[in-house]
Amino acid sequence: MKFFIDTANLAQIKEANDLGILDGVTTNPSLMAKEGIKGETAILQHYVDICNIVDGDVSAEVISTDYAGMIIEGEKLAALHNNIVVKIPMIKDGIKAIKYFTSKGIRTNCTLVFGAGQAILAAKAGATYLSPFVGRLDDISYDGMDLIAQIAHIYSVQGYETQILAASIRNPMHIIKSAEVGAHVITSPLESILALLKHPLTDIGLEKFLADHKKSNA
Ligand code: G3P
Repeated sequence: MKFFIDTANLAQIKEANDLGILDGVTTNPSLMAKEGIKGETAILQHYVDICNIVDGDVSAEVISTDYAGMIIEGEKLAALHNNIVVKIPMIKDGIKAIKYFTSKGIRTNCTLVFGAGQAILAAKAGATYLSPFVGRLDDISYDGMDLIAQIAHIYSVQGYETQILAASIRNPMHIIKSAEVGAHVITSPLESILALLKHPLTDIGLEKFLADHKKSNA
């Protein structure tokens, strides 16, 4: 399972990349706004800056909601760097745009996915990645992980090549469960990735090893 970081914060992207396990980055308009990146020139430059840190796929989201606008925007984003993946919302014109980009060899990430029917449509259109939002489903009392498992089953039975990118990850259990039920990728805040490192018995065990070493070498 690939690990993407879900942020537009360059320091966090560097920190995750330095771990050596980072495969890519996802952003969205809210994450860009959170970093104070405003205006087209600054936004495009920020994507290039991210691509210069990580050697992996970087999702850059279109703002247009009509087909023609998505095509113009997506082509501009894709031209920025070979690693850019054009992120397109799961709406009618979005499906048409994904189909267009697929025919042009431009990779896509279909975002804002909350149901299996949407997942089937995105796969039919040839999306490279599909982003079901696990945490936001949990927020409204649906089990986000059930959706990942259902889509993994459908894609496997049907032989669809679209990769399931579990998004809206909120905690380390979301990452572990995603791996268990067959997500191809997770995109997560740095905090949840680092939380995977933690186990109290590791800390206790290491403390004891170091104390014993110190005693026998005193
Ligand atoms: O990748 C999508 C993600 O950014 C949404 O996360 O926490 O805003 O639901 P969240």
